[in-house]
Amino acid sequence: MANDNNRFQAIISHCKEYGFIFPSSEIYDGLSAVYDYGQWGSELKKNIKDYWWKSMTQLHENIVGIDAAIFMHPTTWKASGHVDNFSDPMIDNKDSKKRYRVDHLIEAEADRLENEGKKNEADALLTEMDKLLAASDFDGLKKLIEDRKIKCSISGTSNWTDVRQFNLMFSTQLGSVTDEASEIYLRPETAQGIFVNFLNVQKTGRMKIPFGIAQIGKAFRNEIVARQFIFRMREFEQMEMQFFIRPGSQKEWYEHWKKERMDWHLSLGIPAEKYRFHDHVKLAHYADAACDIEYEFPIGFKEVEGIHSRTDFDLRNHQEYSKKKMQYFDNDLDANGKPYGNYIPYVIETSIGLDRTFLMVISEAYTEEDLSTADKQDSRVVLKLPAKLAPVKLAVFPLIKRDGLPEIAKQIMDDCKSQFRCFYEEKDAIGKRYRRMDAIGTPFCITIDHQTKEDNTVTIRYRDTMQQERISVTAIKEIVGSHIV
Ligand code: GAP
Repeated sequence: MANDNNRFQAIISHCKEYGFIFPSSEIYDGLSAVYDYGQWGSELKKNIKDYWWKSMTQLHENIVGIDAAIFMHPTTWKASGHVDNFSDPMIDNKDSKKRYRVDHLIEAEADRLENEGKKNEADALLTEMDKLLAASDFDGLKKLIEDRKIKCSISGTSNWTDVRQFNLMFSTQLGSVTDEASEIYLRPETAQGIFVNFLNVQKTGRMKIPFGIAQIGKAFRNEIVARQFIFRMREFEQMEMQFFIRPGSQKEWYEHWKKERMDWHLSLGIPAEKYRFHDHVKLAHYADAACDIEYEFPIGFKEVEGIHSRTDFDLRNHQEYSKKKMQYFDNDLDANGKPYGNYIPYVIETSIGLDRTFLMVISEAYTEEDLSTADKQDSRVVLKLPAKLAPVKLAVFPLIKRDGLPEIAKQIMDDCKSQFRCFYEEKDAIGKRYRRMDAIGTPFCITIDHQTKEDNTVTIRYRDTMQQERISVTAIKEIVGSHIV
């Protein structure tokens, strides 16, 4: 069994070799922390998106979706607090000139201590860090790094600058003439597109509280320490949902969404022990409670999704900055029989990274199997993806390239391809074709041979068990279809 870091590297290589993920603009040596999804990666990513979208909107009658623009009026980011607060404390090593996010530097030290069996010391270090971060005590953070003699991984020294804040938003110019152009930002979260449309959706959709607005879209952050493949990117996608509720009911809804979202994760077939909640001690500028759902990646437990009780922070600030009322009139009656009346709703947010979900799904699916027998060494790499997420659902193979078998195979392909993604291949030995489909996670392969001509049956081969059986051509759509809903 490969160690975890080797496994992580193997997954990265696999993603490139089989057309899932390429470094962006690779012919120019790539762009740091920016990636392109290839032919199978884009299919898998789209299937994850569709699965989330369906479970959030179609299966919740009180949640609707929107698709807001990436560019937003610059005041949006003043109101949301991102201009003033969306920054991370950084520290530079004076010898290597390398810049680190302070929390990542200290966390790496805690990991090192834990690996040496000093778990109590590691926990104490993290607790101390959380306290200092919560108090924005930058001198204290620098002192902690120096006292612990934390070293730069490149220079090996502990010669550090002061701790400073860096804003993570990318800015650009809107307008053609530089003098007249105004500075705008690439959105660092999709949520603000939901907040500014709150009343548009509530009024046109005649939505009654509690209700939610969901959105999938790109977000951009100038991450200073961007590494670990698609785990931390500068351009990424989020799947977010803002759930608008009565003030005072936030605790109950926060717990509700924690459970709902964990259930969604478990519905991917990932075992419960691979997940955990991490409650935040240091809260973002907008939250009164927050936690992460963490998944155990090959590089350890890390955040995939955040659940945040955002109070009325965003709507209240947009009301203040825009001078437009962001209120809801609630004519339901409270316990005293009086209408709740006008208020600015509170919000529970669920925010999951699409790219991180992709990395989670592929990390869970990636399996190296030793198939050696007494006579022969053999192995395979198989992606045991849930069939509903697999890029290709059905591969269609004629056993050989003649005797009318390709024609029958193409007919079957034509019959199935409007219902689910199929892939046709006639090149190479059948075993090689199976292995290529295993590597991209195709759950079903069918082979058309001479017997097909006689009795209209094909061999179906199941990816995970590699078992094969004979089925009627007329049963193909039902077997595949029943696994992909
Ligand atoms: N609207 C709230 C929000 O943006 P967040 O915890 O900063 O909260 C939510 O981000 C999710 O977005 C994270 O749980 C993660 O999955 C994803 N995410 C954040 N930064 C990312 C990055 N640089 N690269 C990839 N995914 C990222």
